[in-house]
Amino acid sequence: MKIGVIGGTGGQGLGIAIRFVQAGENVIIGSRSLEKAQNAVDKIKELLEEEEISNLSAAENTDAAEKADLLVLTVPLAAQRATLQSIKYAAAGKILLDATGPLETAIGGLPTRCLYLPDGAASERSQKIIPDTNVICAFNNISSGALMDFNEQIDCDCLIAGDDQQSKIVAAKLIEQIPGVQVVDCGPLERAQIIEKITPLLIGLNIKKICKDAGIRITGIDPECKPF
Ligand SMILES: NC(=O)c1ccc[n+]([C@@H]2O[C@H](COP(=O)([O-])OP(=O)(O)OC[C@H]3O[C@@H](n4cnc5c(N)ncnc54)[C@H](OP(=O)(O)O)[C@@H]3O)[C@@H](O)[C@H]2O)c1
Repeated sequence: MKIGVIGGTGGQGLGIAIRFVQAGENVIIGSRSLEKAQNAVDKIKELLEEEEISNLSAAENTDAAEKADLLVLTVPLAAQRATLQSIKYAAAGKILLDATGPLETAIGGLPTRCLYLPDGAASERSQKIIPDTNVICAFNNISSGALMDFNEQIDCDCLIAGDDQQSKIVAAKLIEQIPGVQVVDCGPLERAQIIEKITPLLIGLNIKKICKDAGIRITGIDPECKPF
């Protein structure tokens, strides 16, 4: 599958890209600038100590969205609307995994606090901006530090929420290729309001040095009930 990471030049996008490259998926790193996307590709090559990685390429965001079968959005909340509008037509009919965190930093506040958006969750806002795309809240609770520690398993579940069951099954199969990650389907997209609010809590634990790259695990799941 071709995966386009929109805004894939930051910590979260790079981490997700590197993990999917390791899983053998075809990854396109998207950016507003082709040069910046190419630099990100070069950085991943350097980190993985490989001169050529055949399943990794760079593109401008719109181009990445056009070429990819499935998209991942990894931009700050303040950049969410403009970025999604720029890929709206290319993203139609596709799945978009949305990592956007509604952190107070978007208005100069603290990363340990959430913004309460009129649209509900950040992912619900994404769904309103790109109604013809199946938006799934994902990767909110996995830190870039854990993703970038690419020789290690990730000790964190990936809580997802979305309104299209088939899209969630596709997403879960893809994400569970990342070693250590269990996908937990939390239900419809409105549950993203809860999932996204866990992130500032985890950031706070990291800041207080109670944890390094804090994550979350859901216990007691009946494997028979996993739809994927
Ligand atoms: N970092 C984490 O540990 C973590 C964990 C969970 C969720 N998240 C969420 O994942 C998203 C990305 O996090 P991050 O730490 O990777 O963010 P980031 O490094 O601040 O930004 C990621 C990319 O977004 C693009 N961008 C930044 N400002 C922009 C603007 N004003 N307009 C358009 N594009 C802009 C840039 O790409 P180009 O300049 O290349 O276009 C940038 O490299 C955020 O919503 C965050 O809340 C992050």
